[in-house]
Amino acid sequence: LLEAAAMNHRASAALVLVAAMVLARPASADDAADAQVLAISRKHCVPCHARDPAHPAFAKPPREIALETIGELQRHAAGVLEQVVETRAMPLGNETGMTEAERDALARWIAALR
Ligand code: HEC
Repeated sequence: LLEAAAMNHRASAALVLVAAMVLARPASADDAADAQVLAISRKHCVPCHARDPAHPAFAKPPREIALETIGELQRHAAGVLEQVVETRAMPLGNETGMTEAERDALARWIAALR
């Protein structure tokens, strides 16, 4: 009986390990997508959309929209999708030379939020 209990214990430990690996996988895929989207925003949006914008034309974030964190990007996702993918008004004048691939990556990330 003790031996069976020990085997059971090992089996459940293995199960926990497998479950942890399965659960960890989507999280790390999300992390990679988050990192990519943060890099895109830093390059194409944050010059203006920051609490302290580097762009000389702005002393504060346009429309009070800062896009410096994942939380901010999530909060403004609908507006970002509209401005970057639908109307393409952003980045303003495409000053930063945002590519189609970067717009697609942002659109995919926003679609996955739903
Ligand atoms: C060169 C500066 C600049 C850059 C770069 C820029 N924006 Fe903007 N953004 C503005 C300005 C200025 C406004 C306000 C426009 C207005 O009031 O009509 C604005 C407004 C917005 C709005 C609100 C639009 C509305 O009418 O509600 C969103 C959302 C937005 N930007 C997203 C982005 C995203 C996402 C990026 C990066 C892909 C980006 N912006 C890059 C200057 C910039």
